[in-house]
Amino acid sequence: MATPLGAAAIMCAFHRDDNKQLSVDGLPLIAIANRYGSPVYVYSAAGIIDAFNSFQRAVAPVNGKVHFAMKANSTLGVLALIGKLGGGMDIVSGGELARAIAAGIKPDDVVFSGVGKTSDEIRQALVCGIGQINAESPAEVAAISAIAAEMNYVAPVALRVNVDVDPGTHAKISTGQRDTKFGISTDGRVASDLYQQLVNDPHIVPAGLAVHIGSQIRDLVPFEHAYSALLALAIDLRDAGFPVPHLDLGGGVGVDYNTASPTDFTEYGALVERLFAGQGFSLGFEPGRSIVANNGVLITRVIYVKQGDNKRFIIVDAAMNDLLRPTLYGAHHAICTLDETGISTGKADIVGPVCETGDYLGLDYDMPDLSAGDALAILSTGAYGAVMASNYNSRSPAAEVMVIDGEAHLLRPTRTIDDYINDETIPHIANMSS
Ligand code: LLP
Repeated sequence: MATPLGAAAIMCAFHRDDNKQLSVDGLPLIAIANRYGSPVYVYSAAGIIDAFNSFQRAVAPVNGKVHFAMKANSTLGVLALIGKLGGGMDIVSGGELARAIAAGIKPDDVVFSGVGKTSDEIRQALVCGIGQINAESPAEVAAISAIAAEMNYVAPVALRVNVDVDPGTHAKISTGQRDTKFGISTDGRVASDLYQQLVNDPHIVPAGLAVHIGSQIRDLVPFEHAYSALLALAIDLRDAGFPVPHLDLGGGVGVDYNTASPTDFTEYGALVERLFAGQGFSLGFEPGRSIVANNGVLITRVIYVKQGDNKRFIIVDAAMNDLLRPTLYGAHHAICTLDETGISTGKADIVGPVCETGDYLGLDYDMPDLSAGDALAILSTGAYGAVMASNYNSRSPAAEVMVIDGEAHLLRPTRTIDDYINDETIPHIANMSS
């Protein structure tokens, strides 16, 4: 249902002010839409700060170091804010490494995850002095070792293991089971033997083990299974005489997409403390979604309202190229009007202008009467929103704005169509033999 932000959402970064205007930090969102146009992503700095600090507090008893999974939101302004709070970054590409550095993050505070790091990316990471590389296969360990040898360098490498735990989330974002491409199996001796290989390699300093079983996990049981398996392996390796200084517990803590309220990390922190306190490993965490999702909204305006034979369609100026999650995962994002909560006058599909039936932002939502120009907010879009945008249908993706102390700052403008066209070259088609 199209959620009028109700009592459950009172603690949200985005709230109704006394005039029933959806606002952030005292600034009505309509003022941002008027100033920057639409569609536009709006982030709350205060909300991100609260979420990050609250995660840090939850893992403070185990002295956890937080590396924000910047795949969730890699806009420089967001990274710089998290860096200022003491966050490092979890990256998955050379591009993300360049962004982290451009945002002022120290390379030593960066962890490089992912199954397919290229030689160039490994070189780039080693040259800048990356804090840790999480390797995911024997072939990757061999590549890192060879590149480190050639550079006369010692690479800090942890092994990401696959502990075969079903995280109970959407199949496309589950990474913990054996038949996914992620991690090194803990079945038999594969992971243990590879770890021993790290220890014996003069070009590698073994950093420990890592695990990440998936995203948007709202039940602690899969975390408990995965973390227990990781701990058992780490203790085995240590008992066998291998140094295992660090355990990286990944990300994955879910958020409430119905109320857009902040995630409470207390129970997660208590679980981690119960399992790991006093075990003698330093701990790292890679939260992404739970830091930013509910601290961002996508503002869009109605272009047309169309009454179909069976349905009402609200056609808006944001589309799947701006926010892919509903199309790709069938994800639910609450949608509400900016100026008042509005009484529902029936169901509607909120759709974009892209020429695909799959281009929708919400299906069968209870919506009030709307007309052209009305502004809507698509909630919980601070994570995996702008980062997954594309230029599909030659549409320029939404700009991004952050509200800091009640003031709006443009983090990234939209790209104009000329920016795209000017990047391209037409070969000598006129001279082509046909
Ligand atoms: N660490 C690793 C190694 C990861 O692969 C991920 C996410 C994270 C940390 C952060 O997980 P989080 O705390 O955000 O759950 N595009 C999808 C989500 C993909 C997540 C991929 N990996 C979506 O929109 O739901």
